[in-house]
Amino acid sequence: MRHLIDPTDLTVEETGQIIALAEEIIADRAKFSQACRGKKLATLFYEPSTRTRLSFTSAMLELGGQVIGFSDAASSSVSKGETVADTVRVIRCFADIIAMRHFKEGAPLVASQYAGIPVINAGDGSHAHPTQTLTDLLTIKREKGRLDRLTIGFCGDLKFGRTVHSLIKALSRYQGIKIFLISPQELRLPDYMLHEMSAGSGLEFREVRTLEEAMPELDILYMTRVQKERFLDQEEFDRVKDSFVLDPEKLKTARKEMIVLHPLPRVNEIARAVDNDPRAAYFRQVENGKFVRMALILTLLGWAGENRPFERTPVFGEPFVVDGPACSNPRCISVSEDVDRLARRGDDGICRCAYCETIL
Ligand code: CP
Repeated sequence: MRHLIDPTDLTVEETGQIIALAEEIIADRAKFSQACRGKKLATLFYEPSTRTRLSFTSAMLELGGQVIGFSDAASSSVSKGETVADTVRVIRCFADIIAMRHFKEGAPLVASQYAGIPVINAGDGSHAHPTQTLTDLLTIKREKGRLDRLTIGFCGDLKFGRTVHSLIKALSRYQGIKIFLISPQELRLPDYMLHEMSAGSGLEFREVRTLEEAMPELDILYMTRVQKERFLDQEEFDRVKDSFVLDPEKLKTARKEMIVLHPLPRVNEIARAVDNDPRAAYFRQVENGKFVRMALILTLLGWAGENRPFERTPVFGEPFVVDGPACSNPRCISVSEDVDRLARRGDDGICRCAYCETIL
């Protein structure tokens, strides 16, 4: 059974195939209008969403399938204390594929161990957002014509920004990628990411504190929102919330062919005056999200057909270290639910929590 929990669950070749299928769908939508007839997608959203949930819904409907689910954990039996594992055991009786967003990091991984149907991570806490990554890759491919030899600036909240984490991981597998990390000290990338990037990922990267330092070199500027909901301390949020604002003045030193991406929603980090600049690609990016999710649903359902349902649970998709040390990340699912304690040893020999990647 194949799931999409982390962007690297797909090989570079498989990622390319999904992007190519999305481009085929864009070219001939009618051809795919009955491709998922008789299939159901369950959208289990424990956290707010506009783009991801509705683009999954729209994607399944355009494929001729149907959609069930909830958009608020309070309206489901989760509010009575039901675990992720039990919830997906139930959902598998009603649907063929699951898209799950959860505030706990690693929740979709737990779901994949119990569901018996493909599980897609639609964003877990501050950890990962692999379908946004597919959206970003399709957008880059369509806008720039390639996925290699690119200089990309990630700006804003790199600490809690799950879209940033997933896109950097995905890009680390392409040639000639140079990255500028533009953030205040408080919102630097998490240690596990910096460690992985330093330990021979092939990425060239540099940390800077101002947009101006990076702007003239960029092919892509990836702006992010400082996420109020992730801060435990209001004062800390107030200190960093207005760190970076992209406006027409700052764009003056950018290349004519640079593009501006943003996973959205935005608050104030991109001035409205930028929206009409042809380099502003963030609303084109949103539409790509629907097409790439259509391609992903088709691909995972196709692969699922080759598998038999689980007979025993939990099922681990890879050889984890079982009964590893406890995770110290309060946002990790392993801290709040009764799940197997799992670790993953990286190529660098370092042990990370299998659910949220915190270094153990
Ligand atoms: N980009 C993204 O995940 O947006 P939503 O939170 O609206 O789904």
